[in-house]
Amino acid sequence: MSKMWGGRFNKKTDPLVEEFTRSIQFDKKLAEYDCLGSIAHAKMLGKCRIVPKKHAVKIVSGLNSILKEIKSGKFKIDASSEDIHTVIQNALDKKIGKSSAMLHTARSRNDQVSLDTRMYCKDKLNYLIGLISLLKASIKVFSRKNIDVIIPGFTHMQNAQPVLLAHQMLAYCDMFDRDMERIKDTMKRVDILPLGSCAISGTSLPIDRNFVAKELGFSKVSSNSMDAVSDRDFVVEIISGLAILGMHLSRLSEDFIILSSQGFGVLNLGDEFSTGSSMMPQKKNPDVLELVRGKAGTLYGNLIEVLTIMKGLPLTYNRDMQLDKEPLFKAVETVEGSLKVMTGLFKVLKVNKDNALKLLEDESIYATDVMEYLVKKGIPLKEAHDITGKILSYSMDRKLKLGEVSLRELRIFSSEFNKDVYGLLNPGKSVSLKKSYGGTSPDEVRKKLKNE
Ligand code: ARG
Repeated sequence: MSKMWGGRFNKKTDPLVEEFTRSIQFDKKLAEYDCLGSIAHAKMLGKCRIVPKKHAVKIVSGLNSILKEIKSGKFKIDASSEDIHTVIQNALDKKIGKSSAMLHTARSRNDQVSLDTRMYCKDKLNYLIGLISLLKASIKVFSRKNIDVIIPGFTHMQNAQPVLLAHQMLAYCDMFDRDMERIKDTMKRVDILPLGSCAISGTSLPIDRNFVAKELGFSKVSSNSMDAVSDRDFVVEIISGLAILGMHLSRLSEDFIILSSQGFGVLNLGDEFSTGSSMMPQKKNPDVLELVRGKAGTLYGNLIEVLTIMKGLPLTYNRDMQLDKEPLFKAVETVEGSLKVMTGLFKVLKVNKDNALKLLEDESIYATDVMEYLVKKGIPLKEAHDITGKILSYSMDRKLKLGEVSLRELRIFSSEFNKDVYGLLNPGKSVSLKKSYGGTSPDEVRKKLKNE
């Protein structure tokens, strides 16, 4: 395989160095983008008369046929090559002969690799936005189907207040909305054409960068050649957004793991999305969810990897930057896998409403409702909090449920209590009272589902 450099060298590269420096084993994923970028570049070279038209046409048609082979999976990549740019240049040499030697005019692999990476990112970010939308859609279907299911909401993993299961699920829709917004915002900074920056300082040849940007669908052209070839902040930003998304997915997984465990029994993950134990025949394990939870760790690792590689690098291009691609690809593929599996899981997820109701048998979960009952009678919050706490302690000492404390006993604590207070001690009543905007009342949750 011939190299894209070598004229000034008198000795052959040591095989150890070839092995150590090559990136083809991972940057082959950029093949399609590399081809497309080269096609636009060659068209520009022809249009600007930097390369004679007939050679430019030959280059474009050669690249188009390589592109076809890549898309159909027929393109052969020699694993001993240095990188994807070399592979495609060599394939073009073989296909069209002499004219191919003009393709790399007014270009360096420094601006080329940044271009390929940005094109990959644009494509994948759009794809991931689509996958997040699909996950959100399956959350909404699930929430609509189970709109009447009430579960205990937790703070500190302790019973807090009853909430609609749908309300908790829609919390994740809000998180995923922000994740999408973050990706879309990042896109503005990815969607900038670096090509034409060449190795570091631009070129003396009369190139037309705006033409290339238009051909490739870039909104902007980079305005400093040294920045364009040397920064990878867009990679850091993407992985950081994906790491946040991964964090959200890990929390959703954890909620499901808890709610499907024997102590809760609210969710049944479905056989299709569970795994068994080699020793304990009774087991149905949430391994899928545990892996989604664990993969948030992979994403954090990817982020730290690129941040650390980039730290303190002098301008401009340094070979260290070749190492950005593996964590970038890994992060994109990790998120892709987790999003797909979570979307599938929602489709088979079953809810056990009776078990959910059993979790609400401890009436202390209505303490806040009782306290707000007193507040509505004009009792200052602090006092109402104290009264309710004392009643709870009184009932616990006597092993009574809240509803078993008589009205006479309640009135020892406050004369404001009437019979209607007992009506508060049920899940439906409790959630229906939370009518504040964004609260868990079925009306509010239905409104949110409609607006989603
Ligand atoms: N494989 C390299 C990378 O991914 C391509 C750029 C090589 N440039 C260079 N000056 N050695 O970064």
